[in-house]
Amino acid sequence: MNTESIRAAFPILKETINGYPLVYLDNGATTQKPARVIDAITSYYTHTNANVHRGVHTLSQRATIQLEAARKTVAQFFNAPSAGQIIFTAGTTDSINSVALGLAEKHLQEGDEIVLSVAEHHSNILPWQHWAQRHKGKLVVLPLNKEQSVDVTALEDKITPRTKLIALTHVSNTLGTITDVEAAVRIAKLHAIPILIDGAQSAPHLTVNLGKLQPDFFVCSAHKMYGPTGTGILYLSERWLNELPAPRTGGGTIKTVTFDHTEYAEGALRFEPGTPHVAGIIGFSEALKFMSDIGLEAIAQHEQSLLIHAQNQLRALPEIDLYGDHEHKAGVISFNVKGAHPFDVGTLLDKYGIAVRTGHHCTQPLMQHYGIQGTVRASFGVYNTIEETNFFIEKLKKVIKMLS
Ligand code: ALA
Repeated sequence: MNTESIRAAFPILKETINGYPLVYLDNGATTQKPARVIDAITSYYTHTNANVHRGVHTLSQRATIQLEAARKTVAQFFNAPSAGQIIFTAGTTDSINSVALGLAEKHLQEGDEIVLSVAEHHSNILPWQHWAQRHKGKLVVLPLNKEQSVDVTALEDKITPRTKLIALTHVSNTLGTITDVEAAVRIAKLHAIPILIDGAQSAPHLTVNLGKLQPDFFVCSAHKMYGPTGTGILYLSERWLNELPAPRTGGGTIKTVTFDHTEYAEGALRFEPGTPHVAGIIGFSEALKFMSDIGLEAIAQHEQSLLIHAQNQLRALPEIDLYGDHEHKAGVISFNVKGAHPFDVGTLLDKYGIAVRTGHHCTQPLMQHYGIQGTVRASFGVYNTIEETNFFIEKLKKVIKMLS
């Protein structure tokens, strides 16, 4: 993998911050965008912009063709059985809310249970909690195992006749640890319980093969995969494509409407009311082509080598507490400087142009599990280098001195 040429493709990496070259280690929050994604969006607005699925004129047809081509690209990227199972949403949070609203309408009853894990980010807690509070439902929480990933082996103990859904993160956004989703899907299927996999933090770093994994629901966001914000997907299995009540309705979702009755469209369009974020979707498709051109294996290997290198260096520092300290993880390192507030560490690192995320990372229950307020999180992307990693460690050592 030629990191130099990859870096050259990202205009923002030429920025200096506080007089230092930008070292962007906040990829878990959002990744930067390569020029080809920015160009695809500009080109769409310059040459194509029109509404989709609604016009006979040339631009409308062009826009529709591009949108549907993007759906195919996404399906191919994730090896989804068919493009029609890919629904464009505003992102992971929107996708999970859609599933929660849809399931609440028919599938979930009072007293039912949903199994989550202690490592979920708020987006995969609040929609279920919202339902549970209104319908006397119950959230059942899987613990972490000794590797600090979700303890899937505990599923069998947590499942009861009232369990109606399992919803698990694939990769913890705070720890980077990887859930054994293959085992989770296997157990879910054994008990005929639908399973949702939150791929927000896995899809940017690992190959996700939906055809093989066969979850009921899979969600992820474009902006963590070098694509634009405000776009993402909800993958539905064949069953749910037909059975999930559409949580929102409106133009674009229908075949015919009278004041007495509406006949809805079939497939993905049933879940995409209103004018979609066409430019964003086209940008997303370009981002996936960018990732495929490099190769998911190459991306994973590169990021893994940086992560292991950084983790080894952090382990050697007695002033550091590491969380999720394990080799089998993707993209993320979380730590604290003993006795220091993560915000102070993050603010001081920023003085050297180093961007990390600090705080609870939208995983307050996980923070409660560790008995801490927050962590400092360094998260890697395809354009990060070993030199940046060393610079980060070198400056972190300075920060530790400043704060001691
Ligand atoms: N969920 C995103 C993160 O982990 C925002 O930073």
